Amino acid sequence: KNIVILVSGSGSNLQRIIDTIDNGEIQNAKVSLVVADRECYGLERAQNHNIENVLIPRGKNFSSELSKIIPENTDLIVLAGFLSILKPEFCENWSGKIINIHPALLPKYGGKGMWGHHVHHAVIEAKEKESGATVHFVTPGIDEGEAILQKSFAVTEDDTPETVAEKVHLVEYEIFPIAINKVLGN
Ligand code: GRF
Repeated sequence: KNIVILVSGSGSNLQRIIDTIDNGEIQNAKVSLVVADRECYGLERAQNHNIENVLIPRGKNFSSELSKIIPENTDLIVLAGFLSILKPEFCENWSGKIINIHPALLPKYGGKGMWGHHVHHAVIEAKEKESGATVHFVTPGIDEGEAILQKSFAVTEDDTPETVAEKVHLVEYEIFPIAINKVLGN
């Protein structure tokens, strides 16, 4: 199965996917292309693994440029720390074959502007007792698609947005490969 991964940042989730394909945790899969919407370390990770990679600068033409380069035999598109909003038509074209990881327990802390440390700040501010990560299908409504897998962890009084981010990453690394297997029908 061919997976296309979209990134905007450090790409540690991309790395996790590459590693779990290599070690067999994710089966029958290959990262055929990595696309970034800005210069980022995720792009370098793809280069380091000789994975085809493309930078499409973010902006209003991103989705249509992306459509042109996504191979037709793509089985799954994975948003792994990807910060642009994709056009509704793009999401609909790939319905059921496009997933995202979100750094909170959706439907809490979802929607426009709720990404990265914004989410973690909001979680701390609200004195939440727990947070987590969610892998979900991508639909035109931001962070509204059906959840595939979710995992929580405890937020304590000592936590800061930075420590919450670390905890989120750990659960993301755990659930992302499992969710990908599930969607691929493995
Ligand atoms: C992840 O926590 C993801 O949920 C959020 O941004 C972070 C990306 O991290 N949207 P990385 O680029 O995979 O290291």
